[in-house]
Amino acid sequence: MTYHEALEAVGRILGEGGDEVLREVVELLQRELEQYSWLGIYLVEGNELVLGPWQGPEATEHVRIPVGQGVCGAAAASGRTEVVDDVNADPRYLACFPSTRSEIVVPIAHEGRVVGEIDIDSDRPAAFGDEDRAFLERVAELIAPHCLVG
Ligand code: SME
Repeated sequence: MTYHEALEAVGRILGEGGDEVLREVVELLQRELEQYSWLGIYLVEGNELVLGPWQGPEATEHVRIPVGQGVCGAAAASGRTEVVDDVNADPRYLACFPSTRSEIVVPIAHEGRVVGEIDIDSDRPAAFGDEDRAFLERVAELIAPHCLVG
């Protein structure tokens, strides 16, 4: 699936609505974009990121991450997308899966506040380029209204 097709599919899921839209978006992206080995949405609760829907071969032990810790916590603190081409070279990286080589974390903001983030691990080195960043930042804008938990 191209990024354009994936954005249209996300739009369709959101248009249909319901309680499971985040889960459906997560499943779609992880299934259709080959280099997205593991994909999850963390939601901000107080000073923590709490894992919401995720899709991938294995569960992560990092179900709660303090804002400021790890690559996830850095993106939540700054409100800026983090792209890590080589996770083993980034001292902030909190390891989840031995197979992971690169990671992107895209904050989800609503009315100027970070309310969550999309976290994707890839088994390929440097899997995330400018197209992924632009695509995922657009997805984050679209799903933001569905990420308001606390
Ligand atoms: N690697 C992340 C932790 C979450 S797992 O990738 C699912 C980090 O460094 O914050």
